[in-house]
Amino acid sequence: MATRWGICSAGKISQDFAVALKTLPSADHQIVAVAARKLDDAQEFATKHGASRAYGSYEELARDPDVDVVYVGVIHPHHLKTCLLFINAKKNVLCEKPLAMNAREVKEILDAAKRNNVFLMEAVWTRFFPASEEIRRLLARGEVGEVKVVRSEFAVPLMHVPRAVQKELGGGAMLDVGIYCLQFTSMVYNGEKPESIQATGVCFESGVDETVVVTLKYPGSRLAVFTCSAGVQLPNEAVIAGTKGTIKVPYPMWCPTSLVVNGKETQYPLPEPSMPLNFLNSTGMRYEAEEVRQCLLRGLKESAIMSHTDSLLLAEVEDEVRRQVGVVYTQDCQ
Ligand SMILES: NC(=O)c1ccc[n+]([C@@H]2O[C@H](COP(=O)([O-])OP(=O)(O)OC[C@H]3O[C@@H](n4cnc5c(N)ncnc54)[C@H](OP(=O)(O)O)[C@@H]3O)[C@@H](O)[C@H]2O)c1
Repeated sequence: MATRWGICSAGKISQDFAVALKTLPSADHQIVAVAARKLDDAQEFATKHGASRAYGSYEELARDPDVDVVYVGVIHPHHLKTCLLFINAKKNVLCEKPLAMNAREVKEILDAAKRNNVFLMEAVWTRFFPASEEIRRLLARGEVGEVKVVRSEFAVPLMHVPRAVQKELGGGAMLDVGIYCLQFTSMVYNGEKPESIQATGVCFESGVDETVVVTLKYPGSRLAVFTCSAGVQLPNEAVIAGTKGTIKVPYPMWCPTSLVVNGKETQYPLPEPSMPLNFLNSTGMRYEAEEVRQCLLRGLKESAIMSHTDSLLLAEVEDEVRRQVGVVYTQDCQ
């Protein structure tokens, strides 16, 4: 039986997620319903992506008995209340990154998912790319020896995107793009907690972080360094340096289609989209969607590849980085 998706919000990433789902067999994945704050937006989305039902409120989607799992694509200050709405209605949830604004909110979502016995995953799509699977395989068999340094960067000028710069919309480089560097580091170091975190950064006038440089130290003299920015462009690559070699993730490191392992390059091409995308390589969201399907088929409540503990660790490090840089959201004061 197909996994029946409900889509929450008709925004940019939801549009791309719907296109990504269409690269998978329709016998496995179907969009049955979409909800947006305005019914017109939902209807337009439903027509474009072949959803049979369109709702003008998220509550109606939460009540739809034919929806197995909801993809939450609203902006991140609204992740907490939107996730709680669906989770408390006993819906499984795949929520866009960052799962919430801070660790307190993330814990609230995770607790609700456990209480309601539903599946929940933060949509860290990168982890499910074939290139990322290959990185995990290479590390597990010690291809580059012991990893000593992980370096990554994700920096793009986003000054023209209101949700990337305005504080009340959840703006800031760490939560928008830095999370990709952090999740990469955390994946390579197997979800270990860093023993120290050092962050320095500069902020937009709005008070959210424009550019941040973070150094993480892990037990056993292992390091990671990343740069994220919503103000400038960097090459946006990543490197894993071990005692026996290196793995390089060329641009774009957050949605990789190639790897260079000890100098040898391999391509991991993505399927072509059936319609224009808002973001680069978005058909790669098909892999996280398939992970959700496989977890649901097996009755799992979380993914082993992007677990609840993983989401909490990301949020805790993000909180500490923001504390050191001096970025405070209203959600931090509640
Ligand atoms: N995985 C990725 O590669 C990727 C890429 C981009 C973004 N994202 C994540 O996806 C989320 C959405 O990003 P986006 O670029 O799609 O954003 P967007 O198009 O600006 O907004 C998404 C939706 O959020 C709701 N929304 C927007 N502004 C709102 C407001 N002021 N109050 C209440 N609701 C509001 C709207 O829902 P309605 O349609 O219901 O009105 C809107 O369609 C973010 O958390 C972001 O971090 C992920």
